[in-house]
Amino acid sequence: MTLGAATDVEQPRDFAFTSDNLALAQRIIAKYPPGRQASAVLPLLDLAQRQHDNWLPRAAMDAVAQLLDMPRIRVYEVATFYSMFNRAPSGRHRVQVCTTTPCWLRGSDAIVAACERTLGIRMGETTADGEFTLSEVECLGACVNAPVVQIGDDYYEDLDAARLEALLDAIGRGEAPLAGSQIGRRGSCAVTGPTTLQALPFDPLAQETEPQTVQAEPSADTAIPLVPAAAPVAAVVAPGSGAPAGTEAAEKVGAEPTKAEAKPAARKPRSKMAQADAPVAEVGVETAAAKPKKTGTGKARAKSKPAQES
Ligand code: FES
Repeated sequence: MTLGAATDVEQPRDFAFTSDNLALAQRIIAKYPPGRQASAVLPLLDLAQRQHDNWLPRAAMDAVAQLLDMPRIRVYEVATFYSMFNRAPSGRHRVQVCTTTPCWLRGSDAIVAACERTLGIRMGETTADGEFTLSEVECLGACVNAPVVQIGDDYYEDLDAARLEALLDAIGRGEAPLAGSQIGRRGSCAVTGPTTLQALPFDPLAQETEPQTVQAEPSADTAIPLVPAAAPVAAVVAPGSGAPAGTEAAEKVGAEPTKAEAKPAARKPRSKMAQADAPVAEVGVETAAAKPKKTGTGKARAKSKPAQES
């Protein structure tokens, strides 16, 4: 969608946040230090768009600029840069197909064709009933599970034409299909299994029945217990770990792991897809408590957890 296209749209003369949204906007602004309220421009534009039938008229951008004491052009720059903002009326469900290189290599051409065939519209158009708008976007940031399509706020990953058509049909019937990987993956890793972080205490290819606990942001000197509380403490310990004295991990500092110790806890059954693929390398589970503090891998791992899992 181009700025030119937006100028062809009939623009409302005014925009004002509802009282509830204004209160929410003030709470968002209060999260930023004095003088830095412009940092709230993205969430406020998003709030305005959600209030205004999923598109952002110029009057809404002006209202955000006024609220944040920003030059209007600065707000226009933000609103025209991000594809998440619609500057013309959009269908109720916005289907954003990623066609950047990883998704293209994994079949996004077929996904685009399936969208156009199923919805009966071309890229950039909205269905006659106003239900779906189809758009092409750059990388959605979930490349490992390519090809990826975003519909509304949800990502649908590991798609092919048939799965995509089924998804659109379900959404058209008013259903809410399960978001995320459509082949059961719950993490981002190579389709044949993880090539890094192989010592995870769960199978990243398996469909979760219960959500994993996401560790809060760790402090610099906080050990990161990646292993669930019920699981036994793993046996492989890095020398000089600095693990608390008296803990099982501390007792094993510097010890060479035996073959038996290096075996991970029993793994959950793998998904059908995972069973069909090459087995994941069996390596020892290395607890975060046993890691030298300076590595900070626990933080990286915590951050690598999907949001919804997203
Ligand atoms: S290239 Fe499609 S999600 Fe990154």
